Amino acid sequence: MMKEVKEAFLFVFSYHFWRMGLWSIALVYSYLQLHKARIFGSIYKARLFGSKYTPISGSIDPKIRSSRPICVITGATSGLGKATAFVLAEKGFHVILVGRSSQLLSETLEEIKSKNKDAQLKSFQVDMSSFESIFKFKSSLEQWLSDAELHPSIQILVNNAGIMAISSRPTTEGYDRMIATNYVGPFCLTKLLLPLLKNSSVPSRVVNVTSFTHRYASIGKFDKDSVSGVHTSTLNKYPYARAYEYSKLCLLLFSYELHRQLRLTDDSHHVSVIAADPGFAKTKIMREYPTYITAMAFLGFKTLGLLQTPEEGAESIVDAALAPPEISGAYYFGGKGRTIESSKVSRDLKLGQQLWETSCDLLNELQHLHHNN
Ligand SMILES: NC(=O)c1ccc[n+]([C@@H]2O[C@H](COP(=O)([O-])OP(=O)(O)OC[C@H]3O[C@@H](n4cnc5c(N)ncnc54)[C@H](OP(=O)(O)O)[C@@H]3O)[C@@H](O)[C@H]2O)c1
Ligand SMILES: *[C@@H]1O[C@H](CO)[C@@H](O)[C@H](O)[C@H]1NC(C)=O
Ligand SMILES: *[C@@H]1O[C@H](CO)[C@@H](O)[C@H](O)[C@H]1NC(C)=O
Repeated sequence: MMKEVKEAFLFVFSYHFWRMGLWSIALVYSYLQLHKARIFGSIYKARLFGSKYTPISGSIDPKIRSSRPICVITGATSGLGKATAFVLAEKGFHVILVGRSSQLLSETLEEIKSKNKDAQLKSFQVDMSSFESIFKFKSSLEQWLSDAELHPSIQILVNNAGIMAISSRPTTEGYDRMIATNYVGPFCLTKLLLPLLKNSSVPSRVVNVTSFTHRYASIGKFDKDSVSGVHTSTLNKYPYARAYEYSKLCLLLFSYELHRQLRLTDDSHHVSVIAADPGFAKTKIMREYPTYITAMAFLGFKTLGLLQTPEEGAESIVDAALAPPEISGAYYFGGKGRTIESSKVSRDLKLGQQLWETSCDLLNELQHLHHNN
């Protein structure tokens, strides 16, 4: 008991705890941007694809069974990912649920099926913080597409899986687990699945679920040690708030950089990239925090009127997934097809390039490591 009280005390009086308090200001700032947009009438109204997405047809070899468009969602077993999976299955997508627990995956699958008998679903167990697991997923996905006689392509990838960790717990490669799950894993997955996205006969899309907390990330360094989070293991206290902000900033810088790179190469003109910020939603994201901290956070946001259900939070993700093909490089926030601007740092060209290069180096290293095993 004494130990818990002491821990609680140390937690509340730590710098990183108060830093998290600042996040609420970033959230309020984002909502102010929405209101400003409304007042000045510059809200972008997304033309969504209508209630049903048009299935792929026509240009595909008729021998290959005509099928629903395929959407891969990571972290689909809880919170925002699950809510997004539900909506996209309803819109007529064949939804690939990606999660780390096979138990939770089958439960989620059952749950969606029980509410929507028409839903077409498939699940894969993947640990987004393990590169070996990601490499394996790519092959299993390709194998499954071929076995099911589906066209070797996917239409949407939603990088949603993410954690808010309060300790480093290095991965087998020595990476910081939070940075690996929230950034390096999705980076590798996106790069590996890009050929399938490019192979789609209709415009395809990558959606990254980022966060308003990116606004606080200071201009970090983007060398290998920072991007892999290796340096956090050398610190005697885990900078959890800063590491979370950093991982979300990286994901965002990447969205924009990938957007720019895809625009430059003509052949891939139809893969668009969009970032989605769900605001604050009541999910299991704070599961590692002491329960009273989580309760305080929920109460605080509720008082401000900013606490959303996972379904409400997932609106911006669904908006991003279904936005018209010509939209790319945008930052969706607040649902109803609305977008705002992300931080200036996140739009910095040089930082985006630097991060891209470092991430590619890391991916090469990882590929070497796992090919030699
Ligand atoms: N909730 C918010 O207020 C908020 C705000 C801004 C951004 N976000 C972002 O939204 C995303 C979804 O979060 P959430 O709020 O829905 O949290 P959540 O309820 O904790 O869901 C996270 C999902 O990610 C999965 N996951 C975690 N680590 C994984 C790994 N290593 N490999 C594969 N899957 C893994 C979890 O699987 P298990 O079910 O097996 O645990 C779960 O399905 C995150 O990227 C988060 O940063 C959330
Ligand atoms: C793209 O699709 C064609 C069939 O339309 C297939 O032959 C090719 O292998 C696919 N490419 C990839 C990278 O899967
Ligand atoms: C999403 O994140 C991945 C990995 O971080 C990155 O490769 C990609 O460019 C990003 N795309 C979007 C749309 O955010």
